[in-house]
Amino acid sequence: MAKRSSLHGLWSSRLAFIFAVSGSAVGLGNIWKFPYVAGANGGGAFVLFYLLCVACVGLPIMISEVLIGRRGRRNPIATMRLVGEEENSHPSWGLVGAMGIVAGFLILSFYSVIAGWSLAYVINSAAGQFAGGAPEKVSSLFASLLGDWQTMALWHTLFMSLTIWVVARGVERGLETAVRFLMPALAILMLVLLAYSIRMGDFGRGIEFLFKADFSALTAEGMLAAMGQAFFTLSVGMGAIMAYGAYLPEGTSITGTSVSVVIADTLVALLAGLVIFPIVFANGLDPAAGPGLIFETLPVAFGQMAGGTFFATLFFLLLTFAAWTSAIGLIEPAVAWSVESHGQSRARSALIIGVVIWLLGFLTIFSFNEMADVKLFGRTVFENLDHLTSNIMLPLGGLLISVFAGWAMCKNSTAEELDVGTSFTYRAWRFLARWVAPVAVLLVFLQATGLLNAAGLL
Ligand code: PFF
Repeated sequence: MAKRSSLHGLWSSRLAFIFAVSGSAVGLGNIWKFPYVAGANGGGAFVLFYLLCVACVGLPIMISEVLIGRRGRRNPIATMRLVGEEENSHPSWGLVGAMGIVAGFLILSFYSVIAGWSLAYVINSAAGQFAGGAPEKVSSLFASLLGDWQTMALWHTLFMSLTIWVVARGVERGLETAVRFLMPALAILMLVLLAYSIRMGDFGRGIEFLFKADFSALTAEGMLAAMGQAFFTLSVGMGAIMAYGAYLPEGTSITGTSVSVVIADTLVALLAGLVIFPIVFANGLDPAAGPGLIFETLPVAFGQMAGGTFFATLFFLLLTFAAWTSAIGLIEPAVAWSVESHGQSRARSALIIGVVIWLLGFLTIFSFNEMADVKLFGRTVFENLDHLTSNIMLPLGGLLISVFAGWAMCKNSTAEELDVGTSFTYRAWRFLARWVAPVAVLLVFLQATGLLNAAGLL
């Protein structure tokens, strides 16, 4: 088959692609979300189920996204439609790409607000506000940020502006260099924090909480949250990785690259858990504290350690960078679509789409103050947005993507793209994509809606 070329240029090297995809994967999902969702769902069993989902569902879907993306070389909607047509399938596969674009919009609207908290913490840390690290003081500082919608709006606005700016400049000139240096720096800083947690935290209890699986503590809701977290943290199920795959040069190993990214992403999440829970237990804090967990625990550690002001400032700065490189992945599919389908310039597309997302972000801001009591299904607007995207849209998108790659695309096409012939790797991927990933997502959905119980199956 004649190969298509991308309209937005290609990554300069395999390494550039790895940095871009891991930049998208490693973000607030690992450091902010993983600990608090694990904490809220009882720890051990949740973590084990999450790891299982990462390996057996997330990884094959990531590989599927990259291969579909590279074959189609367009934005996710056009790619799914084009590849679908080539494979004599229905063009309505493009709708999967459309759902992903919507998911990206919704996720970025709250992601940017949380990244704004991180930005606010850069300033708070630099001003030495966490000195001493008394847990009550740290908690009350966080509470005052949540109560102040104007300050939150300010940081959200700054973060969205940074995102729009870098996306407007284009893929290759984007954050490649930043990712190359700042991600390793973040990892090193996490290791410094780990050393603190081992020495000063209740490390034994932290490990036990994180790794001792008590399956009676894992509810159907918890399983859904663990699966959702696997999708969210790997950035899969919404076409972000597909959009990046569209810029991948031929001849780069898709499976090898995906495995490295998945391992790196998982290690960062586990590291965050290992840092946070020992601090939580040593200071009598609540592991189920919710979205504020890292903002209420890490400053306690920083406040108590030598050079804490410096480390805290650096940490929140690097966390903001990690969020920034992920935010780009969230908006890229929509921007690529606008450029390709509407002939808009990159800059104009990024601006218009970014402003819409920025406005949507106010719903999340108000969820923590003015609209904290506005609840639907017992959840605030922010909680609904998070639940709808992470736990429903991404897994559903992922299910459809794996069915597309495993069933709608013929064996020759996927084997050609993966370039691993009929090897064990290829067969393992195909089995996971055809059977394991779709069935697992379906079972977790049925379980969470209580349908499995109702049918007397569990
Ligand atoms: N994976 C990112 C994180 O863990 O923070 C979040 C994310 C980025 C999800 C990009 C989806 C996406 F397309």
